[in-house]
Amino acid sequence: MTVKIIDKKSPDALIIPLLQDDSLPGLLADIAARAGTDASCLQRDFLAEQKEVFVLYASGSPVIRFYLLGLGKKNGFAEMLVATRSFSHRYKAKLPLKTGLDLRHFSNADLARLTDAAVTGISLGLYKMGKFRTEKNEKPAPLFGSGKSELQIMAPPGTNAQTLAAARRGEVFAAVTQQIMDLMNAPGNRKTPDMVADWIKNAGEESGFNVKVLGKEDIISEGLDALFAVGKGSPHPPALVLLDYTPVTRTKKTPFVGLVGKGVTFDTGGVSLKPSSNMHLMKSDMGGAAAVLGVFIVAASLQLPVRLTGAIPLAENMVDGLSIKPGDVIGSYAGKTIEVTDTDAEGRLILADALAYLLKKERPDALIDVATLTGSIIRAIGYFAAGMFTQNDELAEKLARSGSNCGERLWRMPMWDEYGTDLKSDVADLRNFTGKPMAESISAAKFIEHFTDKHPAWAHLDIAGTAFGDSEFAQGKSATGFGIRLLTEFVEEMIKTPMRH
Ligand code: BES
Ligand code: MN
Ligand code: ZN
Repeated sequence: MTVKIIDKKSPDALIIPLLQDDSLPGLLADIAARAGTDASCLQRDFLAEQKEVFVLYASGSPVIRFYLLGLGKKNGFAEMLVATRSFSHRYKAKLPLKTGLDLRHFSNADLARLTDAAVTGISLGLYKMGKFRTEKNEKPAPLFGSGKSELQIMAPPGTNAQTLAAARRGEVFAAVTQQIMDLMNAPGNRKTPDMVADWIKNAGEESGFNVKVLGKEDIISEGLDALFAVGKGSPHPPALVLLDYTPVTRTKKTPFVGLVGKGVTFDTGGVSLKPSSNMHLMKSDMGGAAAVLGVFIVAASLQLPVRLTGAIPLAENMVDGLSIKPGDVIGSYAGKTIEVTDTDAEGRLILADALAYLLKKERPDALIDVATLTGSIIRAIGYFAAGMFTQNDELAEKLARSGSNCGERLWRMPMWDEYGTDLKSDVADLRNFTGKPMAESISAAKFIEHFTDKHPAWAHLDIAGTAFGDSEFAQGKSATGFGIRLLTEFVEEMIKTPMRH
């Protein structure tokens, strides 16, 4: 699908997103007149509820089909994204090769954001899962979404350049999100640590950021003992992938952000084995890694004026004679010893080493780790927000705002030291699990905090409930792409109003 701005010529079909507000009756009257139909009937039958679709055929007009698409009451980014994505998913088979999107009735202040959201939404609605199906030919193959198809945007007068730039941004986010969803939806046997490392290397070459991979021998020689311990039970050795994006425009003032993402390519729980019923979903335990990779690709594609450093620890948490056992004491890159009281609390171990390693080499202005870390965050706040853990109020505010602006919500959790007291071990410096079935997402954050070298602007995001979920787009749970937009917009926030210490 390519995106164009058109001025005069009318496309064969036109999507018209409409808000449920005071302007609706007037806009519907105009549309009714264009279609040569009765305004009052249309006003009665189309209410512009979120995701509502009303198809109108215009006999006399050059436009054959109008798709009225309800946005609900709020003209926010998230509302436009949700409605357009749902629409294009449901109607893709019916849309002609050239489909228009009429945005002429939106105010200039909202236009760029809404264009970005609509292009992302329409394009994501075309996403095809089933990468590993042998039956490739869908019948009938949707025209819209094929290589030759066009989304033709109609923008208010004098806004073409601005609208086109916003549309390009929407396309970049959609393309990157689809690639990241492919990685997330891939099964464990098609994305072992070395395969994911290769995936990241290729992405770096294609989009323009540096990638360095530390393999098994490097992990041993560098003393990344905690990462090594988690990967020990697997024939596919762990890896630590280091990413660096430096913009060509770099100056002393360029902000610098560090990103770390949990990349457990499959989590059986290890010897502290998980129940089998939902274990297949644990192919998604690299959602943090996927989000971090997504941010690097977007930043490089959009040439954002920010420096990014990243660390992605990759490991497969397996059950084997060589696996770590409950009670084992392991070392870590930071030098602290850890009693592994639960091998299923593996994410915090690999994050500990990745964070400590990154901080040994770099000192970013802000450091964020993202991880599908605990079932506990789902029990606490469910599937509609990710947990945010930080002691830095300014950072919390920036992250929360970035999240609510794009519909990837964050909810701040407490970080009081009392939550970390049960991490004391009798035999080592720390243990990885408190042994108590309460506030586990918070004690996990307190564990990780020990490895952040007192960095004043560190935040941990627990995306266990938001990275992989139920939706109208798939049969079972599938990738959401959560974190890519949120973290990119956070990075842009850092560009606008930097944070320095
Ligand atoms: N990967 C899981 C967390 C998870 C659970 C992610 C559900 C997505 C959906 C993590 O490694 C894990 O097993 N956490 C344990 C921690 C416990 C042993 C302290 C958990 O949440 O039960
Ligand atoms: Mn686990
Ligand atoms: Zn895990």
